[in-house]
Amino acid sequence: MIIVIIGAQWGDEGKGKVVDLLADRFDVVSRYQGGHNAGHSVYVGDKSFVLRLLPSGIIHPDKTCVLGNGMVIDPKAFFEEVDQIAEQGVSVSPERLKVSSRAHLIMPYHRALDHTSEERLGNEKIGTTLRGIGPAYEDKAGRRGIRVADALSPELLKLRVERNLEEANRIIVLFGNQPLRANEILEEVSPLVERLRPFVCETSKFLADARRSGKKILLEGAQATLLDVDHGTYPYVTSSNPTAGGASVGAGIPPHHITGVLGIVRTYATRVGEGPFPTEMLDEEESIAHLIRERGNEYGSVTRRPRRCGWFDAVSTRYAAELNGFDSIALTKLDVLDELDEIKVCIGYEANGQRIDTFPAVSHDLRAIKAIYQTLPGWKTDTVGTTEFDKLPENAQKYVRFLSEQVGVEIGLISTGPERDQTIVLKNSVMEKWFSV
Ligand code: GDP
Ligand code: IMO
Ligand code: MG
Repeated sequence: MIIVIIGAQWGDEGKGKVVDLLADRFDVVSRYQGGHNAGHSVYVGDKSFVLRLLPSGIIHPDKTCVLGNGMVIDPKAFFEEVDQIAEQGVSVSPERLKVSSRAHLIMPYHRALDHTSEERLGNEKIGTTLRGIGPAYEDKAGRRGIRVADALSPELLKLRVERNLEEANRIIVLFGNQPLRANEILEEVSPLVERLRPFVCETSKFLADARRSGKKILLEGAQATLLDVDHGTYPYVTSSNPTAGGASVGAGIPPHHITGVLGIVRTYATRVGEGPFPTEMLDEEESIAHLIRERGNEYGSVTRRPRRCGWFDAVSTRYAAELNGFDSIALTKLDVLDELDEIKVCIGYEANGQRIDTFPAVSHDLRAIKAIYQTLPGWKTDTVGTTEFDKLPENAQKYVRFLSEQVGVEIGLISTGPERDQTIVLKNSVMEKWFSV
C-alpha cells in the first residue's frame, strides 16, 4: 500500500502532524520533492520537532525514511537536522535513513543566487525561503546540477563546482554581491559529502523492494498544490511539483502502484511570501487574521515570518482535489476557529462582473478576483482535543459537512489540536480504512 499526502493550499496545512499520525501504521516514509524550505511540525508529549528535510516519520524509531530523487538536498542543512534531532533523543542511522543517489545537492552558491534573484526582483520578489531551492532546481533542469552520486567522486565534485561557480559568480558579482571561492566551497562541502556516503542508496529500488515485500509506504509531500511550479499561482510558487504526479516522479514509483491520495486542508487558508491570495483577510478583517494567527501559531516554522491569513477557499480546494485526485481529506485546525462569531467560506469567484468557478492560470487575474462568500455561524465552544465527531458542537459539524460538500471529497480526519491524540477519524471513511491497516 502506498499513500501520498499532499497539501491542498499554500503550505503549512499540518502535513507533519498527519504524516506522524499515519506513520505509526506504515513502514516507510519518503519525501519526493522540495528541500529544507519545508517546515513540518510534530508534537509528541512534551517534545516538539520541526522537520525540514527529513520525513516526519523519522520520529518513530522503527520506521525507515527516504529522501527521494526529486529532492534538492543541502548537505549542511541535512546534518544540522540529523544532529539536532539526535540531541532530542532520536537516533538516525543509515540503516533507517536513505538518501537518493539521484537527488540534487544545494550548494552555497545556490543560496547566494537565491538572495541575488530576490534582491533583483525588488517589489516583484517571490518571497522565497532563501534556501537556494529555486537555483538548485534551475541547475537540475539546465543539466548542470550536482547529483549526490556525482558528488561522491571528489574529482567530479571539484570539476562541477569550479565550472558552475564561474557562471554563478558572474551573476552574483553583476548584482553587486561578493563572489564565492571554489576552494572554500569544496572545503565546506567535501567532508559533508563523505559523511553522507553511508546514507546514499538507490531509493527507487529500495521502495520497489519494500512494496513487493508487503511494506506500507507513505509519500510525504512538502509545500502544496498552489505552490506547484506547474499548477500553482505561477510565478509565486516553489520550483518543484508537490502534486500527486510529482510523487511518482520524485520517489521513482510507478503511478499505478500508488493506492490513494490524502489531501491536507486547513479550515482556513494561509500563505507565506508574496503572491495572489483571493480570500486574504485585509483591512477590517485584520483583527480576525490576528486572532487566527495567534490561536493557530501562524508563523513560519522555518523563517518565523507571520503567515498571511484568509478564509477557506472552496474554488482553489476543488481545483486541488481534482488535480491530485484526493480520495479523502484530513481537515486540520478546526479548534483555531472556536472563538469566531461567523465564518466565511469562498464558494466562487467573480471577475469583471462575471462568475467564474475555475482557478485562473494567470496570477494577475487572481489579484483582480472578488471572492463570493457564504457566511456560516460560528460555534463559540472549545473543541480543542475533541476525538469524536458527534461530540463537536452542531455548528462545527455543519461547517465540516459544508466544506466537504463544496470540495466534493469526504473529510476522513479532523484535527482538533497539534497533538497526536487531538484527532477525530470519521467512521466508515476511506481514511479509517487506511488507518486500520
Ligand atoms: P506543515 O508544513 O503542513 O507540516 O504544517 P506546519 O507544521 O508548518 O504548520 C502547522 C502548524 O499547526 C504546526 O505548528 C502544527 O503543530 C499545528 N497544528 C496542526 N494541526 C493542528 C490543529 O488541528 N490545531 C492546532 N491548533 N494546531 C495544529
Ligand atoms: P511546507 O512543506 C509554506 C513558499 C515560500 C515562497 C515560495 C517559494 O512547510 O508546507 P522557495 O524557497 O520554495 O523557492 O519559496 O514558496 N514556501 C512555503 N510556504 N510552506 C512551505 O513548506 C513552503 N515552502 C516554500 O514562502 O512564497
Ligand atoms: Mg510548514
